[in-house]
Amino acid sequence: MAKKTVFSGIQATGSLHLGNYLGAISNWVKMQEEYDNYFCVVDLHTITVPQDPEILKANIREVAGLLFAAGIDEKNSVVFIQSYVKGHSELAWIFNCVTPMGWLHRMTQFKEKSEKQKDEVSVGLFDYPVLQAADILLYDAHLVPVGEDQKQHVELCRDIAQRFNYRYGEVFVLPDALIPPVGGRVMGLLNPEKKMSKSEENLNDAIFLLDTPDEIGAKIKRATTDSQREICFDQNRPGVTNLLTIYELLTGKSRTEIEDHFSGKNYSVLKGELTEVVSESLRPLQERYRELTDEKGYLDEMLARGAEKAGEQAERKIRQVHEHLGLRK
Ligand code: TYM
Repeated sequence: MAKKTVFSGIQATGSLHLGNYLGAISNWVKMQEEYDNYFCVVDLHTITVPQDPEILKANIREVAGLLFAAGIDEKNSVVFIQSYVKGHSELAWIFNCVTPMGWLHRMTQFKEKSEKQKDEVSVGLFDYPVLQAADILLYDAHLVPVGEDQKQHVELCRDIAQRFNYRYGEVFVLPDALIPPVGGRVMGLLNPEKKMSKSEENLNDAIFLLDTPDEIGAKIKRATTDSQREICFDQNRPGVTNLLTIYELLTGKSRTEIEDHFSGKNYSVLKGELTEVVSESLRPLQERYRELTDEKGYLDEMLARGAEKAGEQAERKIRQVHEHLGLRK
């Protein structure tokens, strides 16, 4: 039986953090053998807010390198950079012509991001979810493994696919979001009421995948907890629950096992052990990242192969779309 197709994307804004890893990348790695996968560094999404060209260039490569370092394997997965495959922008334009503006006005991420940017908000930022729909639908993806914050975008993508299919015939597969039951929303260390995020002004809110053990320790030490004594999972205590959830995801231990283990111990024990667990979990990834980027040309070759494979599928799909729209005979 043919394998189902997975598509997911990641922006090239600054370093990747533990939220990206636990909510998305680590799951991509785990499930990649079961599916045919496309993982895309979405640089065209990244430029929906202003970027310094030199920094962007470095960030694109860093993110791509981290995906391979985390264990994404060319055997099962195509890793590529979005702007190298023209079909993404082309299909986004076509979807612009079938997507009502009202659907985009409802997007909560746009509301949040545009709030911060005020008068500077670009048309691209408003249109962001349409480009995301193009990413997914170009590859006939069945599943889109993402963190919780992307649920609404994937639902919009289904709506766009459905509307296109209704008007022009069955062209697109309707994809489903795949959100992990635990880890779909890793919270900030300083502000555990908000998700851990790349754009957070205070860099101590997030653990980055290339942080040193000392940096990790210092950030965890500062993490917000509360004045209660008991260390347990509790929805009403977001700080300690977030630390325990990170521990749970990285050790694979059950919640009862973890609560028993920390029973009668204080926060500094939890923070010390968590530092150890996070540092050790990231160590192999960091080593592979260094090896991979030390070897001149290696990453570029992999990305060129990825762009070529993705490009073939994208071209086929664009041709089909053109035919259905009446742009081709
Ligand atoms: P981005 O780059 O913000 O995040 C990449 C992935 O990481 C997840 N994530 C989190 N998961 C758990 N806890 C967190 N604190 C956390 N922060 C981020 C995100 O949910 C995401 O899965 N719009 C997308 C990129 C994109 C895309 C696509 C995704 C463009 N086209 C097509 C899927 C399919 C984004 O901004 O991801």
